[in-house]
Amino acid sequence: MTAPILSARRLTQSFASRAGGWRRRVVRAVDNVDLDVCEGETLAIVGESGSGKSSLARLLLGLRRPDSGQILYRGEDFSTLSPARRRAYRREVQAVFQDPAASLNPRLRVQDTLAHVMLHHRLATRSTVRDAAAAELHAVGLTPPDNFLARYPHQLSGGQQQRVAIARAMALRPRLIIADEPLSSLDISVQTQLLELMTELQQRTGLGFVVISHDLGAVDSIAHRVAVMYRGRIVESGEQALRRPQHPYTKALVNATLIPDPRLARARHHLAPAEPVPSS
Ligand SMILES: Nc1ncnc2c1ncn2[C@@H]1O[C@H](COP(=O)(O)OP(=O)(O)OP(=O)(O)O)[C@@H](O)[C@H]1O
Ligand SMILES: [Mg+2]
Repeated sequence: MTAPILSARRLTQSFASRAGGWRRRVVRAVDNVDLDVCEGETLAIVGESGSGKSSLARLLLGLRRPDSGQILYRGEDFSTLSPARRRAYRREVQAVFQDPAASLNPRLRVQDTLAHVMLHHRLATRSTVRDAAAAELHAVGLTPPDNFLARYPHQLSGGQQQRVAIARAMALRPRLIIADEPLSSLDISVQTQLLELMTELQQRTGLGFVVISHDLGAVDSIAHRVAVMYRGRIVESGEQALRRPQHPYTKALVNATLIPDPRLARARHHLAPAEPVPSS
């Protein structure tokens, strides 16, 4: 296994519960999590709704501070990174979110979205940035790029928007993309295409992914390793976590196929061959 690019050590974050009246309960969204994400691997994080996946992702992305514990970027404590190392982290670790429409600025044309990040990180100059943006669109399958550069997000389909979001991340030559439910707002056929794109980008560039997903089938098809979260903790992780689950919660997740996303569940149902459903 290669060296970890990002690690969590006893990472913990609590929130005052959103639910419930006058007595404020504290929810441990992330509870003592230890995790290593290595160069070039795809680590999937699965678990039911509310198990803490997004909270963990936000901590790993440096979007929130943990209550306690550490994040290590290439072995260095995140909270004491020098400005130069922090810039390197900001470039090397990128995010892709569930709702591409919300993660793209609606007032920016695709070329400006890409130019913005490339100029900011000095990966292009004013004179080269248009060609560089076109190359990034090409790399994510938005071809010919000239058809897309001048469009606004609302002029794109959901799948195309997510490709732009991936292009924006890829433009920075990341070593790791943290993707929180990147496919779950998209149609099944588009999901398949984007899974293929992610695999292709990984093969071409050797970048790693942390993918959060409700879709155990999709996870199983792309992940090298799976971490199962339950109530803020990682209860099980490994290459075989879904195929040979050891923890009762993982077994329940796999067997009962808890599919909390009702849209996906419907789509599945629609696609699934007619099988008698055991009435237990
Ligand atoms: N900003 C916040 N304020 C208060 N509570 C929060 C906040 N963010 C998350 N939580 C709580 O922390 C717990 C974990 O939430 P989180 O969003 O990380 O779960 P998740 O696994 O991503 O769920 P989902 O699959 O629905 O996206 C939940 O109980 C949630 O209500
Ligand atoms: Mg979430």
